[in-house]
Amino acid sequence: MSDAVQTQSTPNAGFTPRVFSGIQPSGGLTLGNYLGAIKRFVEKQAEPIEQVYCVVDMHAITVWQDPEALRRQTRELTAGYLAAGIDPTRSILFNQSQVKEHAELGWIFNCVARMGWMQRMTQWKDKAGKNTQNASLGLLAYPSLMAADILVYHATEVPVGEDQKQHVELTRDIATKFNHDYGVDFFPIPEPRIEGAATRVMSLRDGSKKMSKSDPSDASRINMTDDADTIAKKIRKAKTDPEALPSEAKGLEDRPEARNLVNIYAGLAEMSVDQVLAEAGGKQFSEFKPMLSELAVAKLSPISNEMSRLMQDPAEIDRILGQGADRAREIAAPILTKTKEIVGMVG
Ligand code: TYM
Repeated sequence: MSDAVQTQSTPNAGFTPRVFSGIQPSGGLTLGNYLGAIKRFVEKQAEPIEQVYCVVDMHAITVWQDPEALRRQTRELTAGYLAAGIDPTRSILFNQSQVKEHAELGWIFNCVARMGWMQRMTQWKDKAGKNTQNASLGLLAYPSLMAADILVYHATEVPVGEDQKQHVELTRDIATKFNHDYGVDFFPIPEPRIEGAATRVMSLRDGSKKMSKSDPSDASRINMTDDADTIAKKIRKAKTDPEALPSEAKGLEDRPEARNLVNIYAGLAEMSVDQVLAEAGGKQFSEFKPMLSELAVAKLSPISNEMSRLMQDPAEIDRILGQGADRAREIAAPILTKTKEIVGMVG
């Protein structure tokens, strides 16, 4: 295929490739956030493409956050990004509320998105529960702010875990409707990138539930700040079944807890599930769990130690966020200005 044909058939041709992703500072970082998101951002950083990573504090307040805890969690999440290998001189790393363009574009998208789209979102249904009348308006509008996060940078790629796929699809719908309504080809249609062995890390206590920072049971998750003994204890107590591990991925189909532990192993070891099972097939959990603990401690301890070191200098973390915000604004401001012009706003 000639270059010209290839360019024409590539989606988002004409847009500079750019990566955007974000994580909420609504609690501590979990192994799910690490394997599904941060670890993949760090791998992505090796590619010669501009990358923007965000601590989405405005999303966090869609449910009540104690102000002191929010400040601490924002710095801790930043420390997590840095400790895992995000280089703030290469990638842009900042917290959302310092770049007001997100909120402004979010408002414009509130007027593009439809109520029905928002009410269909799984996360809205899960988080608002039965008492939707008492949920914040921000929680309902959250996905249009997320679309603004991505599109205010004209990002073309969004690495996320499986649970965010629906929100990235909604972002595509908002971009498409905006372009259509205003007769422009202004916003790219971003691609979700859901890759790797651990795109959906499940709770250690219930293989049908996602591992989450908001689960009331601390035993359900591994936190990036857990020490070696705590990690080993949580893995030892993780729910499993009485069978030995199969030697092929197919054998994990109806065994969600077993599959989860194998996926976690594969994600941490950077192996495929088949490679893990080629080694571990036939082993009982009494043998596999200590292997997994050892691997998890070896991979996570250096990160948690570095996080604690970084947390001793909050001023340095704030400086990094401030510098990242300045760089983020340089990209976002002209895109917002152009958007307002398209919409017909004077000034
Ligand atoms: P959040 O903060 O819930 O999660 C951050 C990232 O971690 C991934 N993740 C997981 N991956 C695998 N297994 C799990 N158990 C697991 N738990 C979380 C998430 O998929 C996500 O990639 N709405 C987003 C934050 C956001 C955002 C954005 C993301 C706001 N604006 C723009 C991308 C682009 C959220 O609540 O993620």
